[in-house]
Amino acid sequence: MPESVLITGASSGIGRALAVEFSQRGYGLGLCARRLELLVKLQDELSGNNSVEIAALDVGKYDDVREVLFNLAEKLGSTKIVIANAGIGERSLPGEGTFHLDRRIIEINLLGAMATIDAGAEIMKKQRGGQIVGISSVAGFRGLSNIPAYSASKSALSTYMEGIRYHLTQHNIAVTVINPGFIDTAINSNRKFRPFLISAEKSAQLMADMIEKKVLSSTVPLWPWALVSGAVRFIPERLWCKFNT
Ligand SMILES: NC(=O)c1ccc[n+]([C@@H]2O[C@H](COP(=O)([O-])OP(=O)(O)OC[C@H]3O[C@@H](n4cnc5c(N)ncnc54)[C@H](OP(=O)(O)O)[C@@H]3O)[C@@H](O)[C@H]2O)c1
Repeated sequence: MPESVLITGASSGIGRALAVEFSQRGYGLGLCARRLELLVKLQDELSGNNSVEIAALDVGKYDDVREVLFNLAEKLGSTKIVIANAGIGERSLPGEGTFHLDRRIIEINLLGAMATIDAGAEIMKKQRGGQIVGISSVAGFRGLSNIPAYSASKSALSTYMEGIRYHLTQHNIAVTVINPGFIDTAINSNRKFRPFLISAEKSAQLMADMIEKKVLSSTVPLWPWALVSGAVRFIPERLWCKFNT
């Protein structure tokens, strides 16, 4: 039986591209997202390869996350990797009457990812090993003026994942934090400035390589974002605000 990967937010963008990439690498797939019709199409597209199981899931409905992931894992047999990828990005500024957007961003990007990681860790503890992957962002390295809640959600996710690593390592579970730069997907398609943009397909190849190597944490692509990520801390506040509005 082939080893499998569970991916949240697999209906479009990075999650979909990761599904295609891991399918080509011979893995079974457990795919979930809210738009089931897109998952059905993807399942058909990948049907010649290894098993592909799909399920509708809103990661903001925390009580559903465990049940859906456990069902997928049970159907697939051997789950090697769980990828907490589902995420949203909205522009929202304080005092503009958009707190509901801030709350939703934290509910999905942070709490939804934590619910995914929690269920994934339970599945892997039962199997006595595996790997948890979180799709965070370079936006989490320093607060971005135009998307502060998104920035905060990703910063918190990376910090959480760093915090759980020691415990999970004791259970033979690796923890990998992926920090994409600009990847060409719907989440940022209305932005004019997308430096060092790469396609979702290219990003998925790079991410799958890193995941298979069990890297602890990396930007995607590695360069120039690794350099940028180190340098942003040293940019003076006044310049930083101008740079990222
Ligand atoms: N693209 C970039 O440049 C970039 C950079 C850094 C980090 N990221 C991160 O990469 C991840 C994927 O984003 P993307 O760029 O591929 O954007 P995308 O094309 O908009 O995909 C987002 C995915 O998340 C799913 N999703 C959203 N809300 C969900 C919910 N409540 N429950 C379950 N699934 C949900 C969507 O599926 P449904 O709508 O069908 O539910 C979709 O499959 C996100 O975490 C994002 O923050 C992206």
